[in-house]
Amino acid sequence: MAKWLDDAVFYEIYPQSFKDTNSDGIGDFRGIGQKLDYIKELGCNAIWMNPCFESPFGDAGYDVSDYYKTAPRYGTNDELKELIGEVHDRGMHILLDLVPGHTSMAHKWFQESMKAERNAYTDRYVWTDNIWETPEGPGALRGISDRDGSCLVSFFSHQPALNYGYYRQEKPWQQAMDAPGPRGTIAEVKKIMRFWLTMGCDGFRVDMAHSLVKGDEDGKGTVKLWQEIRAFLDEEFPEAVMVSEWGEPDKALEGGFHMDFLLHFGPSHYNDLFRCEEPYFSSRGKGDISEFVRKYQENYEKTAGKGMICIPSGNHDMDRLARSIHGDELKVAFAFLLSMPGAPFIYYGDEIGMRYVEGLTSVEGGYNRTGSRSPMQWDDSVNAGFSLAGEEKLYIPLDPAADRPTVERQLRASDSLYHEVKELIAFRQEHPALKNRGGIEFVYAEKNTYPFVYVRNAGDERILVILNSSDKPASFACEYSLSEALRTFGGEIMVRDKRVMVPAGFYGFYRV
Ligand code: NOJ
Ligand code: CA
Repeated sequence: MAKWLDDAVFYEIYPQSFKDTNSDGIGDFRGIGQKLDYIKELGCNAIWMNPCFESPFGDAGYDVSDYYKTAPRYGTNDELKELIGEVHDRGMHILLDLVPGHTSMAHKWFQESMKAERNAYTDRYVWTDNIWETPEGPGALRGISDRDGSCLVSFFSHQPALNYGYYRQEKPWQQAMDAPGPRGTIAEVKKIMRFWLTMGCDGFRVDMAHSLVKGDEDGKGTVKLWQEIRAFLDEEFPEAVMVSEWGEPDKALEGGFHMDFLLHFGPSHYNDLFRCEEPYFSSRGKGDISEFVRKYQENYEKTAGKGMICIPSGNHDMDRLARSIHGDELKVAFAFLLSMPGAPFIYYGDEIGMRYVEGLTSVEGGYNRTGSRSPMQWDDSVNAGFSLAGEEKLYIPLDPAADRPTVERQLRASDSLYHEVKELIAFRQEHPALKNRGGIEFVYAEKNTYPFVYVRNAGDERILVILNSSDKPASFACEYSLSEALRTFGGEIMVRDKRVMVPAGFYGFYRV
């Protein structure tokens, strides 16, 4: 089932910021369609597109007001269907973003749910039974309706939480997972999925997948809920692919997701790589990979054979990769990202080292995330080729730096990050050991030390990967004979008495 996942390499598109074709300053479906060849040429064969549904955009579209209708600013449902067709014509796949945890307050379900008289939507959201009682959680909406009660929110204060029930119920208003309210919500989620899968999308990235059932600290109820959804998909859409924003692969894959992300939150130590005071992939060489590896190993063992752990280059919620690491550091970082098991995810623009734009005023609930969501920099024409709109109309201001990277310039320079990423993807795809389902054994990942060394394997093929992002040479003891160098960057290793000396700012792939 979904065989294509075996060698899927994803590209995340933030539709607002990718390519605008009608000069309103906001990216659109047509724009994405125009750039599919670019994505394919880079070597990505799958897309995750952030929410593109009707919304008041208080959280950039993660506040849906109609799940069955695309936001007019991106195009019509038919245009999305066309885009999906264009993706498929190129042998590529596309996941839409499903936001099951909450809606916008503008959603008609919520409007009904606020009414004092009981109706079909009274139990669609999590409400207490009197205004003076607030539910435990990220916050509550209070004093906004005739209905007597406070409504739990799931993220921002304008995102009321949909009701999937409480795993452990302690209050009379906390409903069981199998009560009619939660059952109604689940039926609706299935209907939404059915709608877009029937239109042709290949599956979903699921927003806050970990958080649906309440009173469920260890995730047992939420896992059960997703298992039900998986069973529904197996029956009706066995090819549908699901990737979760969960950050705990053992739980997510137990719930039937094909893949889960390591994220900037949760226990994965993902931030140790690129987003902390001393990132491991900084040339300062003061980072630590050992905790990340310990946790990864733990997850890897728990999920063996069940699905994939995905390590994204970044996403629309995190600082840009290029905020803390630069130049050749990015090349070594991509050698890591593109040689780990699980499907790689490249956040748009990371392949050219797009920077975090400092000092921006928040746009659509972006806050500090706004700087990672600026328009794609295609070329040196007006607005970097993103849009022909007046500068003041651009969704988010462009990176103002005169030397901001662009696709066009990087295409021309053979030593650019773009070419490095493209070659690394092609290299991965030529070697089963390096692909999504190949295995991994860690060889050297010591505390506060470089290099970082692992072996990837599939069938007879075994490839040793050496990464030294630090600006000092490093060494490790190696039992393998490194017969054939398949690909190196930043110099050559030397082997003496089973000790491998590794140059600074280096990566290498060796057949063993
Ligand atoms: C995670 C999304 O990635 C983020 O952008 C959004 O703000 C929250 N979930 C709430 O939906
Ligand atoms: Ca537009």
